[in-house]
Amino acid sequence: MSITSESKPLLGVLKGMRAETPPIWLMRQAGRYLPEYRALRAEKGGFLALATDPEAAAEVTLQPIRRFGFDGAILFSDILMVPWALGQDLSFGVGEGPRLAPPLMDTALASLAAVPERLDPVYATVARVAAALPPETTFLGFAGSPWTVATYMVAGQGSKDQGETRRAAYRDPLAFAEIIDAITAMTVDYLSAQIENGVEAVQLFDSWAGSLSPAQFERWVIAPNAAIVAGLKERHPETPIIGFPKGAGGKLPAYARETGVDAVGLDETVDPVWADANLPKHMPVQGNLDPLALIAGGTALDEAIDRVLAAFVDRPHIFNLGHGILPDTPIEHVEALLARVRT
Ligand code: CP3
Repeated sequence: MSITSESKPLLGVLKGMRAETPPIWLMRQAGRYLPEYRALRAEKGGFLALATDPEAAAEVTLQPIRRFGFDGAILFSDILMVPWALGQDLSFGVGEGPRLAPPLMDTALASLAAVPERLDPVYATVARVAAALPPETTFLGFAGSPWTVATYMVAGQGSKDQGETRRAAYRDPLAFAEIIDAITAMTVDYLSAQIENGVEAVQLFDSWAGSLSPAQFERWVIAPNAAIVAGLKERHPETPIIGFPKGAGGKLPAYARETGVDAVGLDETVDPVWADANLPKHMPVQGNLDPLALIAGGTALDEAIDRVLAAFVDRPHIFNLGHGILPDTPIEHVEALLARVRT
């Protein structure tokens, strides 16, 4: 084993090494299921205030590392920081999802004026976390993938089936491509700056990749993710990239082959045995415990953990959930998960 995999197990797996015990982190591990997060959020007066305060955001990033000793720390920020930097207003109201204004279904992209400095506090957060993390912990940056980010920019909020954005993409593909290209360009700069300030790997969240037909998936998921990977590899060839096209299902092997990502994240609907048989032979995978099994706990949780572990014994594997940890997850179940994966 190389120095990398011994000193930073998660980074080692991303570079293609197989670990005896898979490294583990959980998507959305910094957040509302932690009492210490809720306390700090209340003190700062909301999500955006927290995410743009480097000292507080660094603290939130470190909270789950201190409590659980995960192998990866994910930057505390949000995928909607990029639309904010592209010039939309961003707000996170209490009890409702995030809002972006004006929605691009009402306004042309050209009417927005980009404000890239809005991302500066994020880079300051990255630098602080990089200086404070234990040496064995891998620091992960992230951004949303263009399709997923576009679904929020077009509708101005989350939507049930991304219908407005799917319609816009068919109605005027050239105008929609301009939105995708603007997100792509900003995202390459954003992730490059995260890397320059200290993240060691990055994840691309394509949370709504599952709503597209195969041809639209090629055009709005595979092509833009490939463009981001190419742009990043040009500037930072050594930094691993994890692609997470949630809901891609049978389109995962094409995504894995065609985007150039170093590793793929699997959601909980993917059969891990199928994934192992159908993904490129040595490609690292991340996933894919059902977040609801983690809420259930007990034997249901143990069996679900063992099934994931067994499927990936022969390939580089990072243990994770299939999607973000839910706010009502009991802390003791997270402890039980860690104990089982690590013994
Ligand atoms: O632990 C971490 O992973 C922290 C960083 C992080 C957040 N959001 C913080 C956050 C990450 C990686 C994200 C990703 C994100 N944000 C995604 C992709 C992953 C996914 O879950 O599919 C998406 C689609 C968003 C957009 C977003 N941000 C929504 C829909 C919401 C509201 C609903 C929700 O999930 O809470 C947010 C708010 C948000 N982002 C919170 C946090 C901790 C909750 C804010 C609060 O009320 O404190």
